[in-house]
Amino acid sequence: MRQKLQNIKNEALAMIMQTSDREELENIRIQYLGKSGYLNEIAKQLKDLELSDRIEAGKIFNDVKFAISSALEPKLKIENCKLKIDLDPTLPGTHPPVGHLHPVTQAIEEISSIFEKIGFSRVRYPEADWDWYVFESLNMPPGHPARDTLETFFIDAPVHPKLGQMVLTTHTSNGQVREMERVGKPPVRMINIAKCYRRQSDISHTVMFHQFEGLVIDSGISIPHLRGTIDYFIHHFFGPDRKSRLRPFHFQFTEPSFEVDITCDICLGKGCRLCKEGWLELGGAGMVHPNVLKAGKIDPDEFTGFAFGWGVERTFMMKSGVKIDDLRLLYGNDIRFLNQF
Ligand code: PHE
Repeated sequence: MRQKLQNIKNEALAMIMQTSDREELENIRIQYLGKSGYLNEIAKQLKDLELSDRIEAGKIFNDVKFAISSALEPKLKIENCKLKIDLDPTLPGTHPPVGHLHPVTQAIEEISSIFEKIGFSRVRYPEADWDWYVFESLNMPPGHPARDTLETFFIDAPVHPKLGQMVLTTHTSNGQVREMERVGKPPVRMINIAKCYRRQSDISHTVMFHQFEGLVIDSGISIPHLRGTIDYFIHHFFGPDRKSRLRPFHFQFTEPSFEVDITCDICLGKGCRLCKEGWLELGGAGMVHPNVLKAGKIDPDEFTGFAFGWGVERTFMMKSGVKIDDLRLLYGNDIRFLNQF
């Protein structure tokens, strides 16, 4: 019995050593360890032995069984795990999806580069700023009704003794006096693009949006400079077919003030079902109010300037070919929508 078991063990271990074939290994398992395999046959015979022989043979039996299964199982496991890879090197590869910048980011980059070509420098100022920069220095003292139109978010933070309460910027005009302070002495030629916040949400408003604000201050700056700059921008951003007009308006921080209109991209100014009169409103503009120059420590007798401030999203939506009927879609993060731009 002892000899028989030793022979089985040697034979099995030799076979296991010689192969790495999954099927052969499986056969060895069935042959030696299977239900009607060699070892089970022997186990049956063990019963008939004398007690003392049975104890001794039982020990050897267990050793042999353990030796075979510990040589076989790990090897079988490895072979079972090996994936069969069918590789066809001639198949074309899969292309990873290519993303692109958000349409608003694209518009911001385009706007900056148009203005940079005519000598404007892109700047950025805080998007949470003091009352002084957002309102008071812009000729809107505390309690002034013009503040109400701006639907402001106030920040629950300590009030600054001179600059007042902190707010989320309702427009990029907070950059006007900040830029005058930074530059010190004209010329000033900034394009300030930043996030703005107002308590409004509907098809043409989102609580967070972007504005770009132009400010030019120098000696002898007048309305024709403003017109020329606006026309230059409109032709480069919207195309040479679109025209602009300045319509009298009111802002506290410019005098005179205008709203800038652009001809509708569908009818090019003739008037159609969409625009009614042929014109669409772009945003505000005007000549910098003397009080604002004073707030920025610039002498209004020596220098004059113009400013304009428009919504980036609105301006982008007026580009010909862009048809978005709800501004909120821009911030819905729906990849199917964003992929179109
Ligand atoms: N800040 C104004 C607004 O948000 C726009 C504006 C900017 C008007 C500069 C005049 C000059 O509506």
